[in-house]
Amino acid sequence: MNILITGATGFIASHTIVELQNAGHNIIGIDNLSNSSADTVDKIAQITGKKIDFYKCDIRDYKTMHDILSDKSIDCCIHFAGLKAVGESVAKPIEYYENNIGGTLNLLKVLTEIGCKNIIFSSSATIYGTPKFVPITEDCPKGICTNPYGWSKSMIEQILIDVQNASPEWNVVILRYFNPIGAHPSGIIGEQPNGIPNNLMPYITQVACGKREKLYVYGNDYDTPDGTGVRDYIHVVDLARGHVKALTAINNKCGVEIFNLGTGRGYSVLDVIKTFQDVNGIKIPYEIVARRAGDIAQCFADPEKAYKILGWRAELSLQDMCRDSWHYQSCVV
Ligand code: NAD
Ligand code: UFG
Repeated sequence: MNILITGATGFIASHTIVELQNAGHNIIGIDNLSNSSADTVDKIAQITGKKIDFYKCDIRDYKTMHDILSDKSIDCCIHFAGLKAVGESVAKPIEYYENNIGGTLNLLKVLTEIGCKNIIFSSSATIYGTPKFVPITEDCPKGICTNPYGWSKSMIEQILIDVQNASPEWNVVILRYFNPIGAHPSGIIGEQPNGIPNNLMPYITQVACGKREKLYVYGNDYDTPDGTGVRDYIHVVDLARGHVKALTAINNKCGVEIFNLGTGRGYSVLDVIKTFQDVNGIKIPYEIVARRAGDIAQCFADPEKAYKILGWRAELSLQDMCRDSWHYQSCVV
C-alpha cells in the first residue's frame, strides 16, 4: 500500500516506517521537524535499505500538503504528528489545541480532497483519565484528562468518530498506546527528548550515561505493590508492528475500531529501575520524592481485542526494552 505517515521522523513513526517497509509498503513521510531531525530519514534507510519519499511540511499547511499529496494515490494515512509534552501543554494550551486538533482537521480536509478515507490515529491511554478499572479494556469509559495534551487526544478521537459517522466510507482505527519505550535493536533510531526528559526511561538512560545525577521517583505511597506508579511499558518495535497489523482492519473496511496497544503487564517504577540495572549492569541512583501532579497509581491494558481481531500481541520483554533503550543511548553519547 501507499501509506502517508505524518510526524514521520518522530520516535514511534520512525520505528513504524521500518516495520512497514519490511512488510513491503511504500512510504510518503511528512514532518515539520519541530521535535525531530531530517537525518532520521537516512537512518531509516540505513536499517531497511529503502529511502522514504520525505517532505518537510506542517500538517496545518493546506496548500503545501495538497500540492505534495494530490498525485500520490495514498491508500491510508497513519497520523502520528502532534505535540506531546504533557507539562508544556498545561502552559501552552492554545499551541497544543491549534497544532494537534487544528492540524488533524486540516489533514482530514486534505485526505478527503485527495480521496483517501482511511486513517490510523495515534491516541493514548491518557484518554482513560483515572481508569475505572484495570486491566483497561477498550470499553472502559473515557475519563477526565489532567492536561490539554490528553484532551487533544480525546477530542481528536471524537472528531474521527464523527467524521466516519457522517461519511461511512471512512475507515478509522484508533490506537491507544500505553507507555512506549525501547529503541530499534540496531541502536540507529530511538528516542532523543529535548531538554530534561519528562518520561521515566529517557531519564533513566540519561542517569546511566552520567548526564543526570540521579532519578527522582515520584511517590512511593500509591496503592500498588511497592507504592510506586505502575505502567504498561511496551517496546516501540512491538508497537510499530501493531500499526502494520492495524492495516488489516482498514483493509477489512472496519468503520471505526479502537485498540489498546499494550502488553497487559504492569511494572512499577522500582521494577523498571531494578530490571535496567540487572540487564545493563549499571547502577541507577534514585531518590523518592513527592508525587507528580496529574499522575495516577496504575495503568495497564487488556490487549486481547488487538489479538483477537488483528492477531497482534506484544512479544518483547521489559528486559528487551531496558537493553535496547540503553544500547541506543550509548550509541548517541
Ligand atoms: P515525537 O515528538 O517523536 O513525534 C511526533 C512528530 O510529529 C515529531 O517528529 C514532530 O516534529 C512532528 N510534528 C508535530 N507537529 C507537527 C505538525 N504540525 N506538522 C508536521 N509534523 C509535526 O512523538 P512520538 O513519541 O513519536 O509520538 C507520536 C504520536 O504518538 C504523537 O501523536 C503522540 O502524541 C502519540 N503518543 C505518544 C506516546 C509516547 O509516550 N511517546 C504515548 C501515547 C501517544
Ligand atoms: N516517573 C518517575 N520519575 C521520572 C519520570 C517518571 O518516578 O522522572 C514515574 C511516573 O510518576 C510514573 C511512571 O514513572 O509512575 C511513568 O511515567 P512517564 O512520565 O514515563 O509516563 P506516564 O505514564 O506519566 O505518561 C506517558 C506519556 C503520556 C501518555 C501516557 C500513556 O508521557 O503522554 O504515557 O500513554 F499519555
